Amino acid sequence: MSLVTIPPRPGDVAPEEWCRRLEAGDILFFPDSPVPIPAGDLEFLLGRRQSGSALHKNIAYKPDRDSLSGVDRGQAGPEAAAEIFRLHSILRRYSRDAAGFLASFLTPYEGRLRLDYASFRPLEEQGRDLPPRRRNDLLHTDAFPTRPTRGARILRFFNNIHPERSRDWVVGEPFEAIAKQFAPKQIALPRPNTALGRRVKSMAASAGLGRVFPALRRSPYDGFMMRFHNFLKENAAFQAECRKSSVRFPPGSSWLAYTDMVPHAVLAGQYALEQTFLVDHAAMVAPEHSPLSVLEAMAGRALT
Ligand code: SIN
Ligand code: FE
Repeated sequence: MSLVTIPPRPGDVAPEEWCRRLEAGDILFFPDSPVPIPAGDLEFLLGRRQSGSALHKNIAYKPDRDSLSGVDRGQAGPEAAAEIFRLHSILRRYSRDAAGFLASFLTPYEGRLRLDYASFRPLEEQGRDLPPRRRNDLLHTDAFPTRPTRGARILRFFNNIHPERSRDWVVGEPFEAIAKQFAPKQIALPRPNTALGRRVKSMAASAGLGRVFPALRRSPYDGFMMRFHNFLKENAAFQAECRKSSVRFPPGSSWLAYTDMVPHAVLAGQYALEQTFLVDHAAMVAPEHSPLSVLEAMAGRALT
């Protein structure tokens, strides 16, 4: 993995080269975020530290529904309602700006980038008390329990909006290296759905059960990616012994990475904004590195 610093005017590099670097497992680093946060918005976001605020937890913005989740509407008096309204408009704009930036920066993906959730992360990451599979201070590759991607890639854009402190990550070797280290000996390769399995899934889907049980919507690929995420977090030897390096993202910076292939953990930092994109597998400029291609080559069959 390399951290590739993007100059303020990256004009003379072909955009395809940035896609290529990302798809090889590099992190693109922008010392001054190309998606700056207006001063008034920043002041509001950094003011969410009081625990009395309705907005002291990590909050997701869902652009397709233009809705927020994770907000405490329970005791929402007029003050809390105004706070929620303000955060909503800030995240709506952040999401739109991040999407605009990516569309202009990664032009080879045009029309094949889907806008997924954005989030505001006001919590201190150091010492959070979470169950093992939800801990973000353990190295992992991303997989969404409730939103299987069926081979689409998870590309994430971050802003460290803390006024003074860096956001401290540890990153490991890209997917191909670690998948080959552990599969199939310690973690089974994805198995294709049997004819019976496919029938059960399609009956369950037509009965609307896929909404309640997201696992029913997982392709063999998604099933593996979810198990791999859990396997890495629960593997103490991997956490302790894998090749890794630390990266500190300074205040005001942004970074971009395929977090489904770059093992990452956040050890410390507070206040970040993030926008997730789902990129069609068919848009890859170097598809041979993708988790789907790596797994299909290992399994010798299609997995979505
Ligand atoms: C994660 O995706 O694991 C969290 C990264 C962060 O919040 O910095
Ligand atoms: Fe993650």
